[in-house]
Amino acid sequence: MVVLSHIGGRLGRRMLLGRGDGACIGMSQSENKGRTRSRPYRGRVLHAEGLIKHYHTPRGVVAAVDGVNLTVRKGEFVAVMGPSGCGKTTLLSMLGGLVRPTAGRVYLEELQLAEADDSEMIEVRRHRLGFVFQSYYLLEHMTALENVLFPLQFSRLSAKEQSERAERLVDMVGLGDRLEHFPRQLSGGEKQRVAVARALANEPAVLLADEPTGNLDAESTEAVLSILQDLNRRLSQTIVSVTHDPAVRDYATRSLHLEAGRIVRREGDG
Ligand SMILES: Nc1ncnc2c1ncn2[C@@H]1O[C@H](COP(=O)(O)OP(=O)(O)OP(=O)(O)O)[C@@H](O)[C@H]1O
Ligand SMILES: [Mg+2]
Repeated sequence: MVVLSHIGGRLGRRMLLGRGDGACIGMSQSENKGRTRSRPYRGRVLHAEGLIKHYHTPRGVVAAVDGVNLTVRKGEFVAVMGPSGCGKTTLLSMLGGLVRPTAGRVYLEELQLAEADDSEMIEVRRHRLGFVFQSYYLLEHMTALENVLFPLQFSRLSAKEQSERAERLVDMVGLGDRLEHFPRQLSGGEKQRVAVARALANEPAVLLADEPTGNLDAESTEAVLSILQDLNRRLSQTIVSVTHDPAVRDYATRSLHLEAGRIVRREGDG
């Protein structure tokens, strides 16, 4: 089991990432005039109202997501569970601004995603959201360290600070001795740990994960989920992970169960 034993008090988020916790790189009040602002969010990081995604196909309409209301507060680790085809990926994609809803709204902190222009969405993807996918999507010609360095090029850090931060992140996921390995020289679980480190590079408000353990054996699944749980507990990293793996429930702070595009059950607080 991999545990982030060396972070926390000594090497907490501020030290690790060099920026104040909860920092929000959003629009200023004046820039945001005339927008649909969310109500004061009191720790509310992600909020979806009446979220619907209907796909029109030659055989009729597929209601992939059919009226989801969801609030994720800072420091929560929410597992969205449900069988294949119930709409998990579609929901996560709308929460991350990758898919435009048929109806409903998604707020990331104060910003309504549908109202964000292109440059705001670039800023959201670079700085406010971190994505982890089942298939890792590492850059094959880059080492573990370079993969984590890649998103840091969009930060304001100096080259030296970027390298130091990338190294700390790779170390944090237990791969300090694999810095120079290319993805083909890493196991599936190690690749996913690099992907988690990369997703955290710019200290996102929310880490969104789609079946992060879908390709992993039991041991690697436990390693990746332990890392996510530790990030959540020690650094208050907000996480939303969709999965049909019931094991994820044990690592999350609460879970939502989706069937045919609707939330049918909520477990845990909130
Ligand atoms: N682009 C699309 N066009 C038409 N139908 C789609 C499209 N994308 C998804 N669907 C349908 O929407 C439903 C939900 O798909 P989604 O990928 O969100 O499910 P999922 O819960 O993530 O499934 P899995 O666990 O297998 O990944 C499915 O019935 C799927 O066939
Ligand atoms: Mg899916």
